[in-house]
Amino acid sequence: MDQGINYIGVDFGTFKTSAACSNGRCEMLPTAVGWPKDHVARTMLGRDVVFGKEIQEYRLALNVVRPFERGVLKFVDQAEVGLTGPKSDAHKEAAKLVLEHAVSQMRPTAGQPIYGVIGAPSRASIKNKQVLLDAAKDAFDAVVIVSEPFTIAYGMNNLNDTLVVDIGAGTIDLCPMFGTYPSEEDQVTLPLGGDMVDAKFLSNMQETYPEVQITLNMAREIKEKFGFVHDLSEKAIVTLTAKGRPKPYDVTQPLKAACQTLVQPIVEGLYELIAKLDPEYQRRMLKNILLGGGGSQLRGLDRLIEQGLQELGGGKVTKVYDSVYAGASGALKLAMNMSTEYWQTMRERDQLRAAA
Ligand SMILES: Nc1ncnc2c1ncn2[C@@H]1O[C@H](COP(=O)(O)OP(=O)(O)OP(=O)(O)O)[C@@H](O)[C@H]1O
Ligand SMILES: [Mg+2]
Repeated sequence: MDQGINYIGVDFGTFKTSAACSNGRCEMLPTAVGWPKDHVARTMLGRDVVFGKEIQEYRLALNVVRPFERGVLKFVDQAEVGLTGPKSDAHKEAAKLVLEHAVSQMRPTAGQPIYGVIGAPSRASIKNKQVLLDAAKDAFDAVVIVSEPFTIAYGMNNLNDTLVVDIGAGTIDLCPMFGTYPSEEDQVTLPLGGDMVDAKFLSNMQETYPEVQITLNMAREIKEKFGFVHDLSEKAIVTLTAKGRPKPYDVTQPLKAACQTLVQPIVEGLYELIAKLDPEYQRRMLKNILLGGGGSQLRGLDRLIEQGLQELGGGKVTKVYDSVYAGASGALKLAMNMSTEYWQTMRERDQLRAAA
């Protein structure tokens, strides 16, 4: 590590971006940008772009863009999700602004280069990696994109015999660690995550209680507060309004059913990944499955995954201690451990790309 460099690790997620810097600062912000809808909104806000908590607060006055919604720019082709032309440009611009904002929040020392490691889904295609590199080029002097679950494993020193499952908003990334950088073929990315649970919970609620007024954002907040997948007699009672009148509602079943939709795909993904491994490694990996990402906080998920692995002879599942910063701090640690020569090569590559 070189004292004259600002090193920054970023977990650039669909839902949130967390960043950690070698100067000790860390910050989390939603991966979203709000642009004032018209000049009245612009005057009221006094700014051309809005980030962070204020996006939610002033959402009615803003055009909000989440650059990675539905996996856009990240793991699917933009045309596949119907995003082309100006809409796609707005997503790219939003991605760039979020990264720049995250870096400025780190208050890097002026005049010193900024080197960054950014976590992206494990199977991010070459084309989409390019989009991420473009988004990062103004904020960093040199940047390296690595797989998100790898940053979690690296940060926790679980570089060997570990299977990382990063349960994010847009994707679930599964990555085996064999003491070296994992290849793309070894990893599995499932195109689902917390966003899908929120949408499912909302539709379950609309079916069970059609009179209740509930938004996707409220559904996510309820999930984050009560979310569980186990079969204990726990109840989730929430005050909601119907025709403007507040009343307590039992949302246990609609919520549990929505959260449980993650279990089967994760277990199947693990089967797919385990099957590809050398038989000697299979048992060792199964004994050390590490859940990360916001979705790892769903209560009882670790136990249900363990149950789902019975057919393979069982497994042991644990959760990361800090699902918000595990990725960013792992990325920072990696940035600080890379040699000065390696960073210099990356810097020259990025300068060449900028000049092209
Ligand atoms: N306590 C909680 N219980 C259940 N889910 C939670 C909790 N906290 C956060 N989440 C969910 O985790 C998801 C966000 O996870 P995370 O921040 O790891 O995603 P991300 O990194 O932004 O997305 P991705 O990795 O897919 O790009 C959201 O769906 C959020 O609602
Ligand atoms: Mg993530």
